[in-house]
Amino acid sequence: MKLPRTVSLVDVGPRDGLQNEKQPVPAAAKIALVHRLQEAGLRRIEVTSFVSPKWVPQMADNAEVMAGIARQSGVAYSVLTPNMKGFEAALGSRPDEIAVFGAASEAFSQKNINCSIAESIERFEPVVAAALARGIKVRGAISCAVGCPYEGDVAPERVALVARLMKQIGVQQVGVCDTIGVGTAAQVQRAMEAALQHFDIDQVYGHFHDTYGQALANTLASLQMGVWQFDTSVAGLGGCPYAKGATGNVATEDVVFMLQGLGIETGIDLDKLVDAGAFISGVLGRQPQSRAATAILNKRAA
Ligand code: HMG
Ligand code: MG
Repeated sequence: MKLPRTVSLVDVGPRDGLQNEKQPVPAAAKIALVHRLQEAGLRRIEVTSFVSPKWVPQMADNAEVMAGIARQSGVAYSVLTPNMKGFEAALGSRPDEIAVFGAASEAFSQKNINCSIAESIERFEPVVAAALARGIKVRGAISCAVGCPYEGDVAPERVALVARLMKQIGVQQVGVCDTIGVGTAAQVQRAMEAALQHFDIDQVYGHFHDTYGQALANTLASLQMGVWQFDTSVAGLGGCPYAKGATGNVATEDVVFMLQGLGIETGIDLDKLVDAGAFISGVLGRQPQSRAATAILNKRAA
């Protein structure tokens, strides 16, 4: 097995993890979560999104959360910006990285961002240009890269098409996103291959929700292709408001435990990460959705 020697994880817990939370989560708790993640050694954190507060009320405190973070040098703080309105609102928060988010499925594009795939690329183009002009890095998520809650299976050709369009407008890294966590290893590899038709191996990342329990296997399948960047969510928090029933991303703790076992460097302290997951789970009044975290917490309690 030829695997990457180091892996870079983006913890998307504060954003993807909390965006769908029905109960109010105070900005102070989100800020404290970011602090605990950086303390645990995360070097990339997706903090929030600059989207319509009518669509996603949980992210309405975006600027407040960004302003409250005691930034650590060497840590990149990223935010989602679907259009120029969002990008302009985000600028005051000085993100190091932004992400535009499109989809490989027309129906999901309409439900999630209220426009077609072609229209989404038109909206993203000025956002990408404006970000690059300011030295802000740009990621592009391709949702429903293997399956869509409205259209079912999604062909790799759809992923290749969106990857090509994103490449054309200057997106620097593209994410193969299994929004509803239905993909299995070979499907995910085919979707990755589709993205790799237009982006180098250093420019693609995996973003796997764990609804069917496949996200860790899909992460390993991607590692075997040489992919070394992944979005993960502490305590397995999350889900997308426009993908009903889908659970959170693969838990950061589970991925770190697997990578440690494979001898792959992440720079993350698993014990501190478990503490971060236990902290936010406590705020939400539930247990961490991470097998590794649960095992470590049980061992500590014994
Ligand atoms: P729209 O309705 O097409 O936009 O929304 P519009 O330009 O027609 O404007 C309509 C209203 O929204 C106006 O307000 C605008 O001012 C406002 P009104 O006049 O009615 O009061 N508006 C905004 N407000 C704040 N920030 C903005 C913004 N843009 C317009 N940026 C839009 C388009 C994308 C904004 C909307 O559809 C939206 O907010 N959707 C939510 C998308 C979202 O956050 N989804 C979840 C994140 S994506 C995800 O989870 C997937 C991912 O994890 C990968 C994966 O797992 O697949 C990334
Ligand atoms: Mg997601």
